[in-house]
Amino acid sequence: MSDDILVIGSMNMDLVVQTPRAPKKGETIMGSDFSQIPGGKGANQALTAGKLGGEVNFIGCCGQDAFGDELLDSLKTGGVNIDDVLRVEGSSGIANITIEDDGDNRIIVVAGANSKITPEAIESFESKIKAAKILLLQLEIPLESVSKAIELANKYDTIVVLDPAPAVKLPEKLYSMIDYLLPNEGELDLLLEDYEVNTLQEKVELLLDLGVKQILLTQGGDGITIYSNGREENYDALKVDVVDTTAAGDSFAGAFAYGLQKGWTEGEAIRYANSVAALSVTKLGAQSSLPTKEDVAKFQAERGL
Ligand code: RIB
Repeated sequence: MSDDILVIGSMNMDLVVQTPRAPKKGETIMGSDFSQIPGGKGANQALTAGKLGGEVNFIGCCGQDAFGDELLDSLKTGGVNIDDVLRVEGSSGIANITIEDDGDNRIIVVAGANSKITPEAIESFESKIKAAKILLLQLEIPLESVSKAIELANKYDTIVVLDPAPAVKLPEKLYSMIDYLLPNEGELDLLLEDYEVNTLQEKVELLLDLGVKQILLTQGGDGITIYSNGREENYDALKVDVVDTTAAGDSFAGAFAYGLQKGWTEGEAIRYANSVAALSVTKLGAQSSLPTKEDVAKFQAERGL
């Protein structure tokens, strides 16, 4: 086994409109700014870990268009290995993002090339999954492909980290193959829609009963709680001036995987990832907001973290 993080997931060109408020149905309003910024949950997570100094390989799919070129260039800036990115006919994935003045966002993704990462394509990367220390996944590529990747990782001793975003119901058999599940509260509800569970405690217990080894639940201002059998620990949220929350979850996931790669305890990895995510929301955009290792060190020193 090598020591690398393998990220399998999406890459999108984010088309970002800043606006004082979101329009109502049928209404036209004037926005204040427009930017085109590399994004996609998979690529954002890979670049986060890469910029922090992690050894990262990325498997994904983009078009042979100008967006594809830019998306690949962006990953290269963080030293992410993109040798296994497939370039296919048709357009790259895009995300239409609206950011309101309070920093909240609304995102619509059109999968484009991301939909071409088939289970067969994943199978062809079995040796890479076997060789990786950590497999980091999200749900912006076909679910069957995510499932196949998790099954292959489980065949070997590769640690599976799943950020279930955007959330969909998962095949029940997958839960026992997940080492770390990183939902927020909304995603937790969507994952468990078919089960009769009401309280947070019931939801967490169900996931643990289904076999998830560790759950890292992000709860906005209430911070992050890690749950496993017999363990429940909360880590405070860090207060910063929010410009844009896009990719906050991605930067947390990428930084947490980086911490695991470094051999840190889960608590150490969570604290570090918390700092990375806090820094990411102080800047506009997805990949444009990801901090370097030096940025994180400075932030932690200033805050005494
Ligand atoms: O999590 C943020 C990301 O979601 C954006 O970069 C966008 O591309 C969508 O994938």
